[in-house]
Amino acid sequence: MDQKVLLTHEEPLKTLDDYLARGGFQALKKAFGMTPMGIIEEIKRSGLRGRGGAGFPTGIKWDGVYKKEVDTLGIPARKCLVCNASEGEPGTYKDRYLIKKNPYMLIEGMAIASYAIGTARNIICIKEIFKTEVAILERAIQECAAAGYLGENVMGTGRDIPLEICLGPDSYLLGEDRAMLEVIEGKPAWPRAKGMIPVDYGLWGQPTVVNNVETLSTVPHIIQRGADWFKSIGTADTPGTMIFTLTGDVNRPGIYELPMGTPLRTLIEVYGGETRLDRNVKAVFSGPTNAVIPESKLDTPLDFGSMRKIPSGLGSGGFIVYDNTACILKAGLNFSRFLAIESCGQCTSCKAGTGRITRRLELLEEGLASQEDALAIVDDCQHIKGSGRCFLCTEEGIEINSIFYHFPDDVQEHIEYGCLKDRHLVMPKIKDFDEATHTFVFDEAYYDRSFAEGRYIIYPA
Ligand SMILES: Cc1cc2nc3c(=O)[nH]c(=O)nc-3n(C[C@H](O)[C@H](O)[C@H](O)COP(=O)(O)O)c2cc1C
Ligand code: SF4
Repeated sequence: MDQKVLLTHEEPLKTLDDYLARGGFQALKKAFGMTPMGIIEEIKRSGLRGRGGAGFPTGIKWDGVYKKEVDTLGIPARKCLVCNASEGEPGTYKDRYLIKKNPYMLIEGMAIASYAIGTARNIICIKEIFKTEVAILERAIQECAAAGYLGENVMGTGRDIPLEICLGPDSYLLGEDRAMLEVIEGKPAWPRAKGMIPVDYGLWGQPTVVNNVETLSTVPHIIQRGADWFKSIGTADTPGTMIFTLTGDVNRPGIYELPMGTPLRTLIEVYGGETRLDRNVKAVFSGPTNAVIPESKLDTPLDFGSMRKIPSGLGSGGFIVYDNTACILKAGLNFSRFLAIESCGQCTSCKAGTGRITRRLELLEEGLASQEDALAIVDDCQHIKGSGRCFLCTEEGIEINSIFYHFPDDVQEHIEYGCLKDRHLVMPKIKDFDEATHTFVFDEAYYDRSFAEGRYIIYPA
């Protein structure tokens, strides 16, 4: 059960020497002895799936860019690799945690990826407000460059592997890969049109791989120990481990690396130490992206395929638990408000739809909504799905619809009486984590700050 790949040491690694003493950069050395295609085949064979949310097979993405010889204009391609360190999903704190624990593992993973795919530019895109993580990365990059693991002629191989950092805004959409590319190009975090996938049309029109921090940090382990070793952990659907962020109504919130396939119930009851005061779990959210998970589905194994079947999703491994003292519609309202604020407004259906749903959820909470309002929410949820450039509007439709599907009695109670549970539910956007006390610090000022910065929700007239 305690099989770990990434979080094998308690204390953060402070220097490159610490990393080298633990076998750091041996995987890069080994990779240079392999062909680029050999590395990509090994990653493909390992079954590694992206840990940023969608679970896309990493080797297939790399292969797609590796095979692109020219850009969309037919000019020899200058391929790019982007590490997505945006971590904007409410309820998730694993990428920042990984960077704090061991930034060198990510750098080594990026160096291997760069060599395999043949990228000319490699960029870590991270929010400017993540100041501690930015400083850690800057220092680690400097150390690695000075020691010859980055920059020109890496490890005497004649290969150049530059690595830069790009700072982005505190926007959920920064994490959407096509919006991230826009930001790196100096534009606002607005997702590009649907068909413009980074593998074909990425940074400055060049073929580009975008991978999550955890995905890239896993790469050195696969290269060093082999695809078969990696596949011996986790499930056939999703080999390896994942770093789960567990928050909400549990005794021991925290960050836990577990093998894929571990039942969600084990994460909550064994690692989270059950619900507070032994109340029953009412529902669990894997961020604002997926359908709510009712108590009856807690035995579902944590892998991409099993979670999709129930149907929900693994997301980026952030699980927010609510017990039966929490109002589940209020939890949904928090996510709906978040998505309505974060919606960039390029697609009217998304900006107006998230606003309409949010307003009607507020009316339900206040006891001012009618049966027609509830039906209109469900109707809006159907229409909003798939109606925009990016997945944000679909997230809204899936999540809110699922609450109405799983908890119709709660909806009816709200129509008759409004919310009968006066407990405040924080919007679980995480700012920090205190490991000693297992306490998460939430961004309590999120709504006020967003409105003060001019971000808005379109409410129906
Ligand atoms: C609205 C939205 C927000 C996202 N936020 C993040 C994020 O913060 N971090 C991340 O790695 N992926 C995020 N993603 C997923 C990325 O678009 C992309 O799939 C991912 O970075 C690919 O990396 P992977 O294959 O290693 O998972 C987001 C997607 C959407 C639609
Ligand atoms: S779906 Fe929403 S968030 Fe995505 S591009 Fe359109 S308006 Fe922006």
